[in-house]
Amino acid sequence: MALYSEKVMDHFLNPRNVGVIEDADGIGEVGNAKCGDIMKIYLKIDDDVITDVKFETFGCGSAIASSSMATELIKGKPVSQAKELTNKAVAEALDGLPAYKMHCSVLAEEAIRSALEDYETRKQA
Ligand code: FES
Repeated sequence: MALYSEKVMDHFLNPRNVGVIEDADGIGEVGNAKCGDIMKIYLKIDDDVITDVKFETFGCGSAIASSSMATELIKGKPVSQAKELTNKAVAEALDGLPAYKMHCSVLAEEAIRSALEDYETRKQA
């Protein structure tokens, strides 16, 4: 069996939503101290709905595939639903990740959570 699913390879080779949103409503950046990978998520939010999302990931193939899939999973969704996104859901949507690569999907969950927290903080300001 191949180590990586076709979906992982597809999202790694053709990542969706790569880039920056200049006037983002929420930005989250997280890193994994062990592997040194870094993920940044930009959110555009209107009426508590995520209308656009982009990412920049300096990391391994699984981190890039996880970022790509995670952005696809929350695009067009209400903030409340995006908050519920788990790394498990990201990995499942990718048809699985090898056990030692699960932490890459955790990075995606954390980056989105951090961007949503930034959005909430800005809203209160
Ligand atoms: Fe660090 Fe994948 S090896 S995020």
